[in-house]
Amino acid sequence: MAVEGAVTDIERIRREALACTRCRLAEGRTQVVWAAGNLDSDVLFIGEAPGFHEDRQGVPFVGAAGQLLDTLLGEIGLDRTRVAIVNVVKCRPPGNRDPLPDEIDACRPYLEAQLEHMKPRVIVTLGNFATRFILEQPIGISRARGHAYRRRGATVIPTFHPAAALRGSRFGGLSPVDAIRADLRRVRAVLDGTPAASPVPAALDEAPAESEPDAAEQLGLF
Ligand code: URA
Repeated sequence: MAVEGAVTDIERIRREALACTRCRLAEGRTQVVWAAGNLDSDVLFIGEAPGFHEDRQGVPFVGAAGQLLDTLLGEIGLDRTRVAIVNVVKCRPPGNRDPLPDEIDACRPYLEAQLEHMKPRVIVTLGNFATRFILEQPIGISRARGHAYRRRGATVIPTFHPAAALRGSRFGGLSPVDAIRADLRRVRAVLDGTPAASPVPAALDEAPAESEPDAAEQLGLF
């Protein structure tokens, strides 16, 4: 039974995170970017790290990439009240560089706590860093997407990072926005418990995998 005024575990950890000095990113941040949306929902989106606007506002995915994500969420009837959105790393790396391995390790307990609290049905990993974190494999996103995986009791659907889509990056012959759209249709299908209506197109000329997806844990959804 919830006791009025009691601090939940996740709230205690959020407060701890907001004052975190576990790595060098604490020095350059405006604020810690904890989460957006609903941490009691069934769907968790995981990005990489806050950018300029996120650092200023303290909310994940509020810049252009976030606007694209919101639009694509809307297309499958979801919004930020029905999903949670977090990052692997909760503080902005200087100049938006990639997070370093020791920064990811320092921040790991916060994402682990968010996963443990939510126990999501679906995890959508946006780009390389989140995909590697959840799949625990050094796999690139071009290779990982187009498949679904079982990890942590959830269906994991890796997709391209919306910022890469905005940069116009091409992953094989597929438009990244269309690829994200197709992957989000799979999210909708998993939530609805409906079989996939049509196959999700994979990139046409994927680079060879650094590591094959774990066949035993890769689902036959796609
Ligand atoms: N890119 C991310 O990975 N996360 C954000 O919050 C914003 C941009």
